[in-house]
Amino acid sequence: MSSDAELVLKGALLPDGRVADISIAGGKIIHVGAARRADQTIDCTGQLCLPGAVDMHVHMRGGATQGYKEDWVSGSQSALAGGVTAVVDQPNTIPPLTGTDAFGARVAEATRDAYCRFGINGYVSGESDITGLWEAGALAFGETFAAASSYGGAVSPKELAQVFPVIADLGALVTLHCEDVLPGDDTSLAAHAALRPEEGETTCMEMVAAQFPPGLSAHFCHLSSPLSAAAAMTALPASFEVMPHHLFLSIEEHGTVPEGCCKVNPPVRYEKTRKALWEMWDAIPVIASDHAPHTAEEKSQPFSAAPSGIPGVETLVPLLLAQVYRGRIALSSLLEKVVYTPAHLLGIPVSTLLPGAPADLALYPRQKTETITADLLHSRAGWTPYEGMQGVFPGITCVGGHLSYRRNEFSRRDDLWLPGRGYKCTQAE
Ligand code: NCD
Ligand code: ZN
Repeated sequence: MSSDAELVLKGALLPDGRVADISIAGGKIIHVGAARRADQTIDCTGQLCLPGAVDMHVHMRGGATQGYKEDWVSGSQSALAGGVTAVVDQPNTIPPLTGTDAFGARVAEATRDAYCRFGINGYVSGESDITGLWEAGALAFGETFAAASSYGGAVSPKELAQVFPVIADLGALVTLHCEDVLPGDDTSLAAHAALRPEEGETTCMEMVAAQFPPGLSAHFCHLSSPLSAAAAMTALPASFEVMPHHLFLSIEEHGTVPEGCCKVNPPVRYEKTRKALWEMWDAIPVIASDHAPHTAEEKSQPFSAAPSGIPGVETLVPLLLAQVYRGRIALSSLLEKVVYTPAHLLGIPVSTLLPGAPADLALYPRQKTETITADLLHSRAGWTPYEGMQGVFPGITCVGGHLSYRRNEFSRRDDLWLPGRGYKCTQAE
């Protein structure tokens, strides 16, 4: 029997306070109001419907050698179970995505395995084939390692000066990892933070910005302190992102996990800085996770041997939505930072929850938080630094109108790749 809608989500609360039926067909929202006749209707009474989040900074691992940490199946399922419907994968894979062969292989791997939408960025170095990567479908360039981090060697100012004009000419976005790394023994969270100081982030940002040609669209990754956020907002013509681990963890308060678990670049800071970063909430353009999974064994090594990086794609929205339910931040401000601004910066379609928009959305229990524990989560990392904290997790996540996550089960649909604007399909007709 033919019908107007394929799916109706009935009686959901919308971000603007209305309770409505959301009718979906052909991957899009076709009506918000009274339900259309439908093949399938799901009662969403008591559920808050939010647009799917865009996490613009994840490391999905996988490839030939890193699947034991995470792969596209586990990483994208983890995203969906946290209300994230699109992720942007960073190119510090093994091998890094400097050329079109490695890039094409990465797209093929994600196309085969991913359950959520994905964009893939091109790697920035003196050897990178920037134009080739852009035409192969890179969504953006970076994160660019202006300082060394896990699986990323530092790119010199000379190389940046070579590469930035090419990126500017293409009209592409470049994202930047800025730090100044001092020599010394990396034995604790406090020592790690001292060797990668807040001031060094700002100095490096200024050094990198000095190489910007006119018209370059630039975005600073994972700023850890109000000092660097203020620098991005005032002196430098760029957007920036802040991560949940810099808002929820600190050198003094890093939960029940070993210290090495909270080792990340840039480092978690002292309580004073963490609280001051919250004071800047309204001025932060983007929140992303820097989902960087490593196993519990790797992270339990002596601090200096533990790799840097924290898994976080699944807890990004839940942690922050719990803060909305507590009355600490406005829901509209959260949506700006995890949906609208990242989609706008990347130039990808945005799920506004209006008719015509892609039906990428998630349904969350109203006013009910849950205690976060690793057993709840889907990342292969198998641990979380947010153990014991409160989160609000979705029960249903739809991607293009498909029930991709429901009752803790996942279902895959095709056509999830988000190529960049430079994509030239080279396949034979
Ligand atoms: C990231 C990783 O492990 O890939 N680690 C991290 O500490 N943030 C790399 C990075 O984003 O710097
Ligand atoms: Zn980084």
